[in-house]
Amino acid sequence: MATVVLAQQGQGSQGGHGSAENSDSQFFNALQMSYAHFILIAMAGTVALYFVWTMMMTLNAHMRRLHGLGNDTQRFFARDDYRMSWLKRNIVDAPLFRVRHNREFQLSQAINMGTLPSRFQALCLTGLIVMNVVLCVLHIPFSQGVGSFADILRNRTGTLATANLIPLVILAGRNNPLIPMVGLSFDTWNFYHRWLARIVVLEAIAHTVSWIVAAADERGLAAIAAAFHESELIMTGLIAVVGFAALGLTASSPLRHAFYETFLHLHILLALMAFIALWYHLKDLPQRIYLLITLIAWGVERFVRFAINAYRNFFGRKTTAVVQALPGDAMRITLKLARPWTVRPGQHMYLYIPSVGLWTSHPFSVAWSERQQVLTKEKGLIMTRQDLMVAQKETISLLVRRRTGFTNTLYKRASKEPDGQISLFALAEGPYGGLHNLDSYGSVVLFAGGVGITHHVPFVRHLVQGYADGVVATRRVTLVWSIQYPEHLEWIRPWMTTILQMERRRDILRVMLFITRPRNTKEIHSPSSTVQMFPGRPNINTVLDMEIENQVGALGVMVCGSGGMADDVRRACRERQAISNIDFIEESFTW
Ligand SMILES: Cc1cc2nc3c(=O)[nH]c(=O)nc-3n(C[C@H](O)[C@H](O)[C@H](O)COP(=O)(O)OP(=O)(O)OC[C@H]3O[C@@H](n4cnc5c(N)ncnc54)[C@H](O)[C@@H]3O)c2cc1C
Ligand SMILES: *[C@@H]1O[C@H](CO)[C@@H](O)[C@H](O)[C@H]1NC(C)=O
Repeated sequence: MATVVLAQQGQGSQGGHGSAENSDSQFFNALQMSYAHFILIAMAGTVALYFVWTMMMTLNAHMRRLHGLGNDTQRFFARDDYRMSWLKRNIVDAPLFRVRHNREFQLSQAINMGTLPSRFQALCLTGLIVMNVVLCVLHIPFSQGVGSFADILRNRTGTLATANLIPLVILAGRNNPLIPMVGLSFDTWNFYHRWLARIVVLEAIAHTVSWIVAAADERGLAAIAAAFHESELIMTGLIAVVGFAALGLTASSPLRHAFYETFLHLHILLALMAFIALWYHLKDLPQRIYLLITLIAWGVERFVRFAINAYRNFFGRKTTAVVQALPGDAMRITLKLARPWTVRPGQHMYLYIPSVGLWTSHPFSVAWSERQQVLTKEKGLIMTRQDLMVAQKETISLLVRRRTGFTNTLYKRASKEPDGQISLFALAEGPYGGLHNLDSYGSVVLFAGGVGITHHVPFVRHLVQGYADGVVATRRVTLVWSIQYPEHLEWIRPWMTTILQMERRRDILRVMLFITRPRNTKEIHSPSSTVQMFPGRPNINTVLDMEIENQVGALGVMVCGSGGMADDVRRACRERQAISNIDFIEESFTW
């Protein structure tokens, strides 16, 4: 069909105005809509494929866990299928080039130029870019002179840019349903959000340029200048494209990381401005439906966020945060939740403390949770089952490192108090994340750098408990924690004490502490054979080799620390994936 109509296009440009040109327009109008739908379907299809992959991996892990319950060697799972290990080593876990993935490119301490995507991300990204470029130019009669293709290109790029807004906004959401469904973190979706946004900005600019070319060709340059103040279509289009370009510029990595809060507010305002202008720009056009869906998706996400906050914090008791300053620029925040949730390992939440950060929210991993039975003051005695529910108090605790913004102010507020702690009204929004499950690994190694330990503590507790209860495949857990000074041990001391006293803990858990900047050797002493302390940095290769020598079942390696540490652990894992069944899992505290 395309060739038939393309032939008509040839006639149209020869014959000037007439019914042939009209049918050209009709054809191209239909074509650009189908290309827009193709892009949306292709993206959804890729996600669906990934979903199937995730389901397979989940099923695989489930079988491995069941098999491992009563089996102390799990030898079958210690080696991986060679195809699978190749795939993990070269695609799934691989950085784009040799080692670097999460270590930031920095021009200086303050200027962060971003990170490199992984090989798999780069593959998906290339597909996304190629698809967009191809569909922007496919079937456009470039050979017939600017006059005949500029307006077709203009309509095409504009249509694709608008359609792309739907996934763009969905990918940016904290409550993006794809996160739990596909089991990929906000971080990963945010990566695609940024790149799709760059594509949209370029399409919008191409749209504007081809409008200028088409208009100059048809009516001359003077008419273009006039169009800006005479035509609402052109005016609103100009505002929208300037808005998109500004969004692109202000979202650059150095600005985003240095002034996150300012960036976020500006980002929302600019997006709103561009969307409103675009709404008027698309008056009477079928493409407006894409923008409508985009706005609905955005609105729904915002509403869900609001609803979670209201549900968690505004019924019954108020949520309060007890902030306690700790040595080494950190603080422990204990939240008395108005409405508790069952915390799974690896989850994080967003914390609002209005008296310090107004309406802004910051993500923190949940390090600990505690359920206490207390007598209610009002009633004195617990009479019914319902009273008992009321009397159950759940607290969750966070470990927060002082940075330069909100966390700095909070730290100063707490340390000004005589006892170094302060109680503040807070809102807790969550839970989020918790996408990884380590129950199916016979052996688990957890690498943490500094405050990254907060992500691992719940896993350690969960696995030790699961081992004692006989519900996990795990037989060995090694926690490797690297800190600068011995006083940082204080950060998790109460939680670690509880864990070390848990039933059968000695059979499963080994803790290796590395003090990278010891002030003298007397500070370094190992409390027991299962809790050891060393000066210097951990040798990741040695730790992994030791683990592989004694490996039970599949080996799960998880890292939460600086980008450089994550890259080192990733490399060490990939180097060993041919001889052992290793899954590499990484969690980072930035995006
Ligand atoms: C999933 C996740 C879990 C985290 N868990 C912990 C934890 O358990 N303990 C801990 O100490 N830190 C954790 N962080 C990091 C923590 O969120 C930031 O350190 C904190 O928000 C910095 O606030 P600030 O205003 O002092 O930041 P600034 O000093 O202004 O900035 C420091 C860095 O934090 C980033 N940042 C600032 N504000 C935000 C925000 N609202 N959302 C996301 N990033 C922001 C900036 O990009 C910048 O790179 C976690 C981050 C993520 C994404
Ligand atoms: C471009 O889009 C406009 C607005 O929908 C339409 O009137 C025009 O016919 C289209 N031109 C082509 C060549 O498709």
